[in-house]
Amino acid sequence: MGQLGIGIIGTGRIARSHLRSLAQGAEGKVVAVYDVMPERATQAAAEFGVPNAARTLEDLLERRDVEAVIVSTPPTSHLAPTITALEAGKHVLCEKPFALDPGEAARMVETAERNQRFLAVCSARDRVGIGPRTAHELASSGALGKVYHVRSSTYRLRGRPGIDMFQDAPWFIDKTKAGGGALIDIGVYRIDVMLWLLGYPRVTSVLCSTFQGIGKPAPEPLVQTVEDHAVVMFTCENGASGVLEIAWASNVTGVNTTIVLGTEAGLRFDPLTRITVGPNRLPTEERLIDRPDADNRDYGDVTTQFVRAVLAGRQPETPARQALEVARVIDAAYQSAATGQAVSLA
Ligand SMILES: NC(=O)c1ccc[n+]([C@@H]2O[C@H](COP(=O)([O-])OP(=O)(O)OC[C@H]3O[C@@H](n4cnc5c(N)ncnc54)[C@H](O)[C@@H]3O)[C@@H](O)[C@H]2O)c1
Repeated sequence: MGQLGIGIIGTGRIARSHLRSLAQGAEGKVVAVYDVMPERATQAAAEFGVPNAARTLEDLLERRDVEAVIVSTPPTSHLAPTITALEAGKHVLCEKPFALDPGEAARMVETAERNQRFLAVCSARDRVGIGPRTAHELASSGALGKVYHVRSSTYRLRGRPGIDMFQDAPWFIDKTKAGGGALIDIGVYRIDVMLWLLGYPRVTSVLCSTFQGIGKPAPEPLVQTVEDHAVVMFTCENGASGVLEIAWASNVTGVNTTIVLGTEAGLRFDPLTRITVGPNRLPTEERLIDRPDADNRDYGDVTTQFVRAVLAGRQPETPARQALEVARVIDAAYQSAATGQAVSLA
């Protein structure tokens, strides 16, 4: 297998995670970086031994040794570089959330398909790891019977980016720049993994409630215009349903888990456990994986998987069409939270 030449667009915090992952393997080599703030690109190039800090996006995309790019800019700036890179014939791994709205997401999908380039989105992050992989294998093989429901709960105590962490990136709490709060920022991973476990059926209706007002307010002059907490219920064309609870900030511990319900068996994550009920109506719990998911990344990470898939000529996870479905759900959820009504996507 050869080596994939990579360009990185936007060299902030998460770009460093991609750079670190790529530095650990030989399959991908970062040959150029670009940032609208040139000193940031120069700094990242120096830190990671990248030979070129491009002065413009066009300079980076003109390079023939750049075969793929990672777009790691804030959400308002995913669309333009992704489309420009795809039109320039590059494969793209785009940071999450894919897009601010489904219209933007659809434009990116259409551009990738027209140019026959791979477009993947980092919302696949929670598929990585032996727990989710094993759950997915069991759900898709029929070993659980018909899978009819997934529930996922993630409650941070005080984890509002821009306030409690990542204070240098206040854009996270500005709706015009981030598109929303906990739901679009971290719920995006959970909606992806929930739909993946259900076989990515089309979502037909969404009901959502959001809340903001936990923890100390943002320090002046910052104003938080996004939610801390969201609850989403969705239904799918195949009759399956999902419930997501997601919070950047809360006053609870010990309730973070995912469950998958099938007609023959159920699964509980962290650590992955299969539950069946025998003829005596008593449950049998079988621990399938010893460690909680957070403790293992046995399947590498999204960056490494992207590089391997592109080199092998197959679609990386999360395919853009699936990320578009996630964007539709999130957009409908915010509409529902604003109106108090369920939103039909049928
Ligand atoms: N996958 C994950 O685990 C994870 C974690 C944190 C953030 N993220 C996502 O990664 C993205 C970036 O987040 P971050 O925390 O690194 O932000 P950041 O603010 O630290 O870095 C963003 C960088 O992009 C640059 N930039 C802005 N607009 C640009 C443009 N048009 N062209 C080139 N460069 C541009 C900025 O100057 C900055 O250096 C966001 O979408 C965020 O949601 C993902």
